[in-house]
Order: sequence, then structure tokens, then C-alpha cells
Amino acid sequence: MSDPTLYPVSPEWAERALMDKAGYGAARQQAQQGPDAFWAQAATRLDWITAPTVIKNVSFDRADFRIRWFEDGVLNVAWNCIDRHLPTRRDQTAILWEGDEPTDSRAITYGELHGQVCRMANVLKAQGVKKGDRVTLYLPMIPEAAYAMLACARIGAVHSVVFGGFSPDSLAGRIEDCASRIVITADEGLRGGKTIPLKANVDAALERVSGVETVLVIRRTGADVAMVAGRDVAYAEAAAGVSDDCPCEPMNAEDPLFILYTSGSTGKPKGVLHTTGGYLFWASWTHELVFDYRPGEVFWCTADVGWVTGHSYVVYGPLANAGTTLMFEGVPNYPTVSRFWEVVDKHKVEIFYTAPTALRALMREGDEPVKSTSRASLRLLGSVGEPINPEAWRWYHEVVGEGRLPIVDTWWQTETGGILVSPLPGATDLKPGSATLPLPGVELQLVDAEGQVLEGATSGNLVITDSWPGQMRTVYGDDQRFFDTYFSAYPGKYFTGDGCRRDEDGYYWITGRVDDVINVSGHRMGTAEVESALVLHDDVAEAAVVGFPHDIKGQGIYAYVTLNKGVEAHDDLKKALVAHVRKEIGPIAAPDAIHWAPGLPKTRSGKIMRRILRKIAENDLTSLGDTSTLADPGVVDDLVKTRAQH
Ligand code: WT7
Repeated sequence: MSDPTLYPVSPEWAERALMDKAGYGAARQQAQQGPDAFWAQAATRLDWITAPTVIKNVSFDRADFRIRWFEDGVLNVAWNCIDRHLPTRRDQTAILWEGDEPTDSRAITYGELHGQVCRMANVLKAQGVKKGDRVTLYLPMIPEAAYAMLACARIGAVHSVVFGGFSPDSLAGRIEDCASRIVITADEGLRGGKTIPLKANVDAALERVSGVETVLVIRRTGADVAMVAGRDVAYAEAAAGVSDDCPCEPMNAEDPLFILYTSGSTGKPKGVLHTTGGYLFWASWTHELVFDYRPGEVFWCTADVGWVTGHSYVVYGPLANAGTTLMFEGVPNYPTVSRFWEVVDKHKVEIFYTAPTALRALMREGDEPVKSTSRASLRLLGSVGEPINPEAWRWYHEVVGEGRLPIVDTWWQTETGGILVSPLPGATDLKPGSATLPLPGVELQLVDAEGQVLEGATSGNLVITDSWPGQMRTVYGDDQRFFDTYFSAYPGKYFTGDGCRRDEDGYYWITGRVDDVINVSGHRMGTAEVESALVLHDDVAEAAVVGFPHDIKGQGIYAYVTLNKGVEAHDDLKKALVAHVRKEIGPIAAPDAIHWAPGLPKTRSGKIMRRILRKIAENDLTSLGDTSTLADPGVVDDLVKTRAQH
């Protein structure tokens, strides 16, 4: 009997795909046996000013730690994403922009993209931005966000995109950490019919951090926003006065391309640093391989450019591959819950890449809003950001894909630059819920807590034993933190922070984070960050935050809060605390549940026992484990008794 959980590669896909089963096996072997030759050949997909002769120079050991790829190569990312396509594709659409309102869309050709990016590059230069300078972008999903990223790349500046949903405080922290002297923003953002006061948020952020000399303001809604004389510059006016041609700065492969802040298990967000050659190669190569992508196909990744998915699969991967990338300003349920599929039909989208949280939310609305659309243009579906539960996988496959489209469930991280584990549509039989197998050149292992390597079908912590070109190079300004976070738990190996199961076919099933990071709607949140925000509130003495299973979000945020003496616990205070966290970090960090805790379970040395707090949050009260090492075991009974109310 055939395995009902296995979806084999179809003959059509095996036929058309860039990589079939045999090709995948051969590539894995070549990458293992001769990595230098394999990657040198693969990297010819980029246009180099000076081709690299030194391909890989890596050591994960503390004593001589280094990660360098293509280190004597010279190239420019904007050249690779724009200029080199101009001779043959000047009039091809590069960016298909779909605004928040269905009546608002635009196609930007490669020729226009070139002019727009050059203009913005010249505006940056006129403001004194030089190679190596950091530029903070706080923008909605408008074409100017891509122009700004590429303009930085063109002149060798390092962009730091901050998601438009982050608060002024979060923005200030990110500006300060990388010492940006310039911020690019818009008057307002527009999402789901609501405006987001981006410029006002920048103004608030700049009250808290010094050093920013220029704020470039792009007009999106046309709202009348305050302009600070001598600091704020209307982009349209500045752009009118500069040339639409700007040469590309030759960059070393290891020159920084961008910083992107992401949450960790401790402390403030880390500035993940990616460099020019390895990152662009990885975004481009994986985009082609995993999506079996050919130039000009309409590719839609629904992520915001504020996240790494937007960097790699809205902007850099598709444009490096001479693609047509769809950039969507809105949300899946505005004006109706058919919006995704209507946009697919309107722009004849061929490849669609989204997050499980969006699928789960749409699944709740039933099949009709999907079935009322055609979706005939689609050939391939993708998923990213968190484990996709088999129920959502099947709905995606059967309802959205009408059973005819493969799904690539892609596992990766901000740190990895691009996809590392994923099916290839022409090579990999699918299992719902499994990211399946590593890409060629990606060497995975499962280890136990002590670092013992686990063989065969088993579960453990996911580590990667060797570098790949798209790997992050450091935490901006903090090499020590980089090493300690990723390379100290299991010496000589990169620790992903994820738990994982490997089945009898060698397929990988990511089970989620094993550290104090939670994944809320595909967005990464450090529990420590939410705790810090909570204790800033005047009424809060102590807080402990854990994740708990949430139907739509994947994980929700569950906060245990101990109030200061004399403060009365009541529902209005709960609301105030949720609002407080939204204000401090941003709406994505808002707790879903607050549990008043007279005390927190701690060991005698004062360490909070999160294992117990997770169990109580999950309402799994039968297996709380050993509580005898607690300073006051009675605390647990109190929390269990009050659990029902939350
Ligand atoms: C964490 C990384 C991947 C870019 C967007 C998120 C989880 C991501 C999957 C997947 C299971 C996944 C992991 C990972 N994750 N994709 N296909 N299956 N889990 O990047 O914010 O850096 O988060 O997202 O836990 O460690 P990120």
C-alpha cells in the first residue's frame, strides 16, 4: 500500500526541474568531496568584477575562528540585481507592486528600477553617506523600500531595515546600536486600511537617541507631517535635483551588505551582519534551486522587507535572478479574506511563498474565499517561518493548490541568510510537516544536550557542522557575543537553537526552539525582551514570559507577572500592561495572556524554573516534574490553582 503521508515528485516536475533526484544526490556529493570546486563553479552565477580565487576560509574553533567566502572576489550587489539585466531585460517588470487598496498597483521595469535606485543613491551621497556607513530604513512595503536597500548596496553603505511595526523605542535601540546618522522613512504606512505613523515614530525615536543628522521622508499617504528644519528632507525634492545615473562601488565579497536585528534568548536584539558575496550568492542560488525559478516568472513572497525573508526572497534573490518580484503592501484579510488569491489571479503569480500563521488564519474562513478565485497561474507553493502543522499543509495543498502543486516547506533563520533545509520540487518526495532534507552543501547533525552525536531516526538539537556562503559573519560590533551564542554550546559546530526529529528516511522535522526564543506568527521574540518591557512598568515587581501553543499564531506570549506590594490585580491593569508592551516593543510583542503570580518558581540559587512555567501555560498540569529543588514549592500550587482563570 502506498504511504498516505508521502507525496511523490510528479513526472512533470521531475522532467522540468533544474535539479532532479539524481542531480540532488550528485550535488550533495560534490559539495562534500570538493567544496572549493563546487562553490567556485556555483558562484559563477554572479557577475564578478574580480572573480574569487580563494573560495572558502572557515574555522568554527575558538582559537582561530573565521568565516570567509570568496574573500578576494570583488562585485556589487546592485549591479548584479539590476545593471547586468539591462541589455536583455530593460523593459521586463522587475517589481510588481500591489498596494493596500486593490485599485492601487504598479509595474516597475528593470530600466525604471535602475533610474530610481541611482537617484536614491545620489541623494544618499549628497547627504554625505559613504561606503561602510550605516543607513536605517523604517519604511512600509513600497517600491522605495527596495530602492533604498539597493541604493545602499550600490554605494557600499550598510542598510539596517527596521520593521515598520516596531515602536519608537525599538527603533531608537537599533539606530543607536549601529550608530546610523541617517534614517529613511515615509510620512505614513498603510496596511489593512489603517495608517501607521512612521514619521511621527521616527521623531519620537530621535528624542531618545542622538547622532542622526538626516531623516529622508518619502511621501506615501501625503499626510501633513512635521518636518524638523535642518534635519528632515523631503525625498521627492532631493531626488528631483540629482542625476539618475550613479556608478556601482566595487565591493569586496566580505564587505558588509546589511545588518538586521533579531531576537535572541538573552539581552537586547542582535545585529545580524551579512556580507556582500556570500549572502548574495546564497539568496540567488537558493531562490533558483528551491523555487525552480526561471527569469521573468512572477514570484510572490508575502513577507515584509523588515524581516530576512523579505530581504532574501522579495528583493535580493528574485532580482539577482532577473525575476519579477511581487511586493505587497497590505494584509491577507483586507478588503476581504480572498485578497491573496485575487492578487494571484490579477498578476498571474506562478510561485507563492507565505507563512503558516497566515494560512491558519485563512483556513478558519473556510474554502469558499479561495474557491471563488482561479489560481490557475500557480505552479508552486512555499511555506516559511515556523513549523507548518500537517492540517494547514493539507489545506494549502488541497484547497489552495487543488492537489496539483508541490509545497516547499523551507527551514532557515535570519542568521543563515537563506534557505538551508527544504524539498526541491523536482527532487524530493514531500511529507506534510517536514522541511525534508538539507540543500547540497548543508551538513546537519542532531546532538543531545551533552553534544553527543545522535545517529539514525532520533530527536535532538539541530547543529550545522560546516559553513555555507550565506552564513552570518558576526553580531554587529560584538564578535564575542557571536561566538558565544552560536559556537560555544557544541564546540566546532553552529547551534541553530532549534529542536528537531529525523525520521527513518532521514527527513528532518523541526520541532521548534529549545532556547528562550518564541515564534509568534512567524516572528521571533525573545522572552527576555518582553520581560524587560514588563518590569519597566511602575506596578510590576517581576515578570517571566513563556510561549504556549496558539491556534493561529503558532505560539502565543504568556506572561507571569508579580505586582509590587500594595498594587491590586485587576483586568484594567492587564489591559494597561498589554498596551505598555505594545508601546515599548511593538504590537507583535503584546502578551496574549497575563497570569497574576504572587511568586515565581525559583531554584535556591534564584533561577526561574521556566520548564514548570511552560507546562502551566500549556495547561499540562500532570507532568510538572520534580519541584523539590525549588526554594518554595508552594508557589507552583498557587500558580496551578489560578491557571483556570487564564
Ligand atoms: C526560526 C528562525 C526563516 C526566515 C524567517 C524566520 C523557525 C523558520 C521554519 C520551518 C520550522 C521554522 C525556526 C528558526 N522556522 N522556518 N520551515 N519549519 N521552523 O526567521 O525570525 O530568524 O526565525 O524560525 O525556529 O530557528 P527567524
